[in-house]
Amino acid sequence: MKLQGKHILLGISGSIAAYKAAFLVRLLVKEGAEVQVIMTPASKEFITPVTMCALSGKPVASEFFVANDGTWHSHVDMGLWADLLLVAPATASTIAKMATGVCDNLLITTVLSAKCPVMVAPAMDLDMYRYPANQKNLQTLKSYGQIILEPGEGELASGLSGKGRMQEPEEIISKVISFFSSPKKLYNKSFLVTAGPTYEKIDPVRYIGNRSSGKMGFAIAQSLAEEGASVTLVSGPVNLEISHPFIKIIKVESAREMEAECLKIFPDTDGAVMCAAVFDFRVENISEKRKIKRTSDGFSLSLIPNDDIASRLGSIKTENQLLVGFALETDHEMENAKEKLNKKNLDFIVLNSLTDKGACFGFDTNKISVLSDNGSIINYPLKDKKEVAKDIVALITERLKSKV
Ligand code: C5P
Repeated sequence: MKLQGKHILLGISGSIAAYKAAFLVRLLVKEGAEVQVIMTPASKEFITPVTMCALSGKPVASEFFVANDGTWHSHVDMGLWADLLLVAPATASTIAKMATGVCDNLLITTVLSAKCPVMVAPAMDLDMYRYPANQKNLQTLKSYGQIILEPGEGELASGLSGKGRMQEPEEIISKVISFFSSPKKLYNKSFLVTAGPTYEKIDPVRYIGNRSSGKMGFAIAQSLAEEGASVTLVSGPVNLEISHPFIKIIKVESAREMEAECLKIFPDTDGAVMCAAVFDFRVENISEKRKIKRTSDGFSLSLIPNDDIASRLGSIKTENQLLVGFALETDHEMENAKEKLNKKNLDFIVLNSLTDKGACFGFDTNKISVLSDNGSIINYPLKDKKEVAKDIVALITERLKSKV
């Protein structure tokens, strides 16, 4: 029972995903939480207060006043009682009202009165989710310190497919548990992390690539998630597994696939950590279907440059976003790293040297120096990559404070 004694206010608004709120209450209660459900008038079209009352064991709060006896639901008392206010599902309308403070129902008045942390699980159609006003409202809620449980992509009730599905009750519960288990510094933050090598296809069976193991990028993704951040890890081919409720992994092969994913994901994040060893070139004329035959003559490949993904993100980075790159150098390390820091518009560049024993490819340890765009340089001793990741995440956490 990981939520024993926790007081949770569950706000339900009028989305078809309201049916999932029943499972949510069930899981919260099973973990030992006391749940008080507040329903907006529209939500009652989707699921009945009777269901929610039976599952939570408490009368549902919905109206300001109880018509037959004149008693009223005190949003102030409920706001003080709660250890967490979870709005799930949160419709575009509820999100807009929460952002602007339009108190036309009991749920919104409670949100405004609550002294506890607020988590919001949006649920809506993909176009509604993308709509600029909705995006702006979600940013506003984030700026109030509220935790947005980003919706997933997939089939929507409209029959369309895209981003807007409320997170599954099991995912939400694991985030609630993780929230209470230790204070997190990166709650409500989201990051893109790239990791591993890229493989550039030559023919159906051959490729050129590099020896990146992906360990550093995976360790950073893990460390960010352990601090409460939502992470999308875009990884080239590696022999690693990762499983954390806050990490979504997207597997790619080529630099172009990695670039397409990064360009899609980056604008919605608070920052990116570019750990991938992206192959700088790709084969100009890939033999897509036929394996290239062996000949007694030599064989040469014509290579054309891939885009620098970090630079592309650097060119669209907003002032609230943070961008971290890596540099692997064999000579003139500091000068080269500084040049890359500027050229790619990075906040930090993590320099690791091939000449350092136990650092880089395949090792479990790494020795880094971090150069900042403000001119500072921090040199770290040789450490386990998991510890190195924590050092980098600590720098990210500190820097993000000045970005909001
Ligand atoms: O210029 P260089 O390859 O040394 O830069 C390394 C940094 O740039 C790393 O953070 C790497 O992930 C990123 N990079 C990239 N796309 C490329 C090449 C490098 O994102 N095509």
